[in-house]
Amino acid sequence: MDVLIHLFVGLHIVGIAALLGGFLTQMKAMGQGTARFVPGMLHGALTMLVTGVALVGINQADHHSVNAIKIGIKLALLIVILGLVYVKRDEVRVEKPLFAAVGALTIVNIFIAVLWT
Ligand code: HEM
Repeated sequence: MDVLIHLFVGLHIVGIAALLGGFLTQMKAMGQGTARFVPGMLHGALTMLVTGVALVGINQADHHSVNAIKIGIKLALLIVILGLVYVKRDEVRVEKPLFAAVGALTIVNIFIAVLWT
């Protein structure tokens, strides 16, 4: 079961790479107000959701405790991220504050994950 957990943490990190990587490639454009949500960001956010939910299930099935408040906050932030990226996915220009919010929320979620032990 531990192998499965590590496998899904790995996939969870692939999701972060797609979401945050997509954001980082658009930072210059964001400064000019011409950034857009690239498809990889949507796929990354969806990957985070699927692998995150799977990780909760696998951990519970294996009788490992999961911090419900931490997971709840991460889930709430991801839903905001997913909502913004999904609704604006076809827009060629996304307003700077909105685009910046997605990057900031992703980074906040990373630090919640690693600092809240
Ligand atoms: C942008 C959103 C997210 C980011 C950046 C993120 C980031 C991370 C990172 C870096 C880890 C590995 C570090 C560690 O094991 O403590 C991790 C683990 C984990 N994540 Fe996420 N995550 C996100 C969303 C979610 C969601 C929505 C869920 C559940 C619905 C979730 C559930 C978990 C679980 C269960 C683990 C295993 C370790 C633990 O219990 O904290 N994550 N996440």
